[in-house]
Amino acid sequence: MGEISQENENNFIFRMKVLYNQMIHIPVMLNTLKIEFPHFFEIETTNLIHLPMSLQEQIDSSILIDINKPTRGYCSKFIKMLTQTLERLDKEVNESILEKFLEIISPQQENEDDKTEYCWKSYYVKDKWITLKNENAYNLVGMTTWGAAYQLSDFILSNQNLFINQKILELGSGTGLVGIILDFIKPLKKLILTDYSPKVLKNLKVNMELNNIEIEDLINDDEKVNDVNKDDNNKINQVRVLDWEIEDLNILNNYSGLNDSNIILGADIVYEPSLCKYLVSILYFLLERNDNSVAYISSTIRNQSTFSIFQKELNDKNLTVIDITKQFEQSSPNSPFIYDRSQIVLYKIYLEKK
Ligand SMILES: C[S@@+](CC[C@H](N)C(=O)[O-])C[C@H]1O[C@@H](n2cnc3c(N)ncnc32)[C@H](O)[C@@H]1O
Repeated sequence: MGEISQENENNFIFRMKVLYNQMIHIPVMLNTLKIEFPHFFEIETTNLIHLPMSLQEQIDSSILIDINKPTRGYCSKFIKMLTQTLERLDKEVNESILEKFLEIISPQQENEDDKTEYCWKSYYVKDKWITLKNENAYNLVGMTTWGAAYQLSDFILSNQNLFINQKILELGSGTGLVGIILDFIKPLKKLILTDYSPKVLKNLKVNMELNNIEIEDLINDDEKVNDVNKDDNNKINQVRVLDWEIEDLNILNNYSGLNDSNIILGADIVYEPSLCKYLVSILYFLLERNDNSVAYISSTIRNQSTFSIFQKELNDKNLTVIDITKQFEQSSPNSPFIYDRSQIVLYKIYLEKK
């Protein structure tokens, strides 16, 4: 193994931290690091990181900062990987790392409050860490950040001009990644994040606060809903209820401030056949209101027949649909997120006015 410069070591640690904070599966983390930093691996062995004390110290002080983050279980798996590597190489383990490991596996810590139910995933975007509270289990879809949200975030980051000074509404915001990414774009005229489940909306609000994004909370306040007519020059962030299953969309006319959005966004909102009809009706309603309005919908195609229902509904409403996946991928190959893009498509949708 040759000499490794301090700068190289710092880059390696930083990359490991990015992968760790996004909770990338440990074998995938090792493969990624091995491709990007082959010099840090023991020669002729598979996936054994060369871990001198200096590197272990950096891992301890800049990655293993909190044993509950992203989750206690993930932290434990990561430390196990380090200790097993060192054991196989017959090298010593840094004492502080060992102490953290013992703390994680100690029985009194195992029953600790509800922290284990959640994970905190962090991403390094435009020189800043952002963090999202997710649920560990996949019981409620809106409590997890999905691949399509990474794609839509990438699209926003690489097409910022499209969003400047616009009024934006997101359908099915879930954990709120897209909203947090939109906060990088200045100025916006308005940003409305919506969902329908109370638990998801509460978590969405928590995530905005976690990232110091000021929001106007309209979740439980119908009175205020009619009262939101602020000066258009001020950016307004709102988190509010919008259930797609509305039989009479004219109800939305009472919700001032909601219908005047000219960009509609949605990530992974096409997954349930029975909801496609409602979703497309809302899209049509919102796109018809404002001239030059457009929707960007990012979808993971898990089931072609569900997606076909969505496409048919769009077609029936005479909405113009352009698949911009390839065009976007070519123009922005780099991403702060690590995710599988293979089944995700991005549609630009609008209504051609006669
Ligand atoms: C698969 S998740 C996607 C969440 C987020 N956009 C992402 O990509 O990480 C689907 C989202 O749609 C929301 N949703 C499902 N049915 C809905 C409905 N009838 N009205 C409004 N939102 C709904 C869920 O609560 C959830 O947040």
